[in-house]
Amino acid sequence: MYYKIITYGCQMNEHDSEKIAGMLTGMGYRSIEKAEEADIIVFNTCLVRENAELKVHGKIGSYKPLKEENPELIIAVGGCMMQQKDIAKELYRKHSHVDIVFGTHNLAELPSLIQQIKKGKDRIIEVWDSDRGLIPDVPVKRKNDFQAWLTIIQGCENYCSYCIVPQVRGRERSREPADILNEVNKLIDEGFVEITLLGQNVNSYGQDLEDDIDFPELLYKIATETEIQRIRFMTSHPKDLSNKLINICAAEDNICPHFHLPVQSGSNNILKAMNRGYSREKYLAILDKIRNKIPEAAITTDIIVGFPGETTADFSQTISLVKKASFDMAFTFAYSPREGTPAAKRDDQLPEEEKNARLQKLMKVQNKISYQKNQKLIGQTEEVLITGESKKDPAHFSGRTATNKLVIVPACPDKVGEFVKVKINDAGSWTLYGEFI
Ligand code: 5AD
Ligand code: SF4
Repeated sequence: MYYKIITYGCQMNEHDSEKIAGMLTGMGYRSIEKAEEADIIVFNTCLVRENAELKVHGKIGSYKPLKEENPELIIAVGGCMMQQKDIAKELYRKHSHVDIVFGTHNLAELPSLIQQIKKGKDRIIEVWDSDRGLIPDVPVKRKNDFQAWLTIIQGCENYCSYCIVPQVRGRERSREPADILNEVNKLIDEGFVEITLLGQNVNSYGQDLEDDIDFPELLYKIATETEIQRIRFMTSHPKDLSNKLINICAAEDNICPHFHLPVQSGSNNILKAMNRGYSREKYLAILDKIRNKIPEAAITTDIIVGFPGETTADFSQTISLVKKASFDMAFTFAYSPREGTPAAKRDDQLPEEEKNARLQKLMKVQNKISYQKNQKLIGQTEEVLITGESKKDPAHFSGRTATNKLVIVPACPDKVGEFVKVKINDAGSWTLYGEFI
């Protein structure tokens, strides 16, 4: 029996797919690339922007003939998009070849839902309204055996005015520090060398726990009480990024010098309307603090253009912030109205063409900055964790620096999962090219 999982969205979703893979493996399924050969296909959906939603509908629709050819095929749809009741019901009605619809909060139920279908139940739609505490631990089948994602906090309570995530991922629920440390130690025993601590906002960690612990303290414990070689974390909300965190990152060698710090906009008016809780000045001051203490740190960000009411002056502020901030990389998005969020109700929405024109302009500015920053690394030696074949060119392999930059190296199948010293010979906006020394 074979499974195929199709994932949309962020790292949290990717990690949820690893949990789905773990559960299916436990049921005796094995992974397969071709949908035509699968016995079960699971969609893990995202609704953070409209185009993610459209893609899901299109892809699910395209699998209808497969189900007609093979009525035994089980098609299940879960993830954030299904956590919106109306959308879930509509999808279930529209795509009659979908057998199971489930949500993010009842992810662990999937095996039992599959069993019910196998026992003859026609179709199932089961989505829990809200979280019932932490999602229970389930087996995880990871993307490789040396890098692991580890959720430390589920949910988000920031209510940025454009964002649907708090509605689908629920309130903030932190995992107990002892459980996290146990899991890190277990992963080390299994041979993992790098962990990425995940949360919509890792800096909120611990606020809901009885223990008096915050994110910097958790990070310190993991860095000093375990033998893990590399620790990453994402995402950090700028409003909660403390000096304590910067100091701990600076002091501990195994904490990677990389901060993903979404700024979203460079205009104070727009930041306020987005309910972000910081100003451009405060944001830039945080970058200064990071770079003072950790000069080699890479800083990446997320930016939205075309938020309702964004004037050309507001947009210029974003461009000017991007130039000042000198990000290593930025994930840039055109604002997408999400039903149920305050920003979607505003009557000063921008036309799509204007949003796209601003997006193109912003990308051009950032690409140049990324290129210039990467060019400065030519001639330097970096420690690279080799991750496998290069996606674009299987004759080469790729890996990641501590700053999370992608490095292309000569083919080296025997070095996958190992740290190697690489001299950087060339650099583009997204990629470094190097040789072993
Ligand atoms: N429109 C466009 N981008 C969005 N993001 C979140 N919600 C929206 C939206 N409605 C972006 C933010 C966030 C990233 C994960 O997705 O930049 O940081
Ligand atoms: Fe969405 Fe803001 Fe929470 Fe990030 S911090 S998930 S953008 S509400």
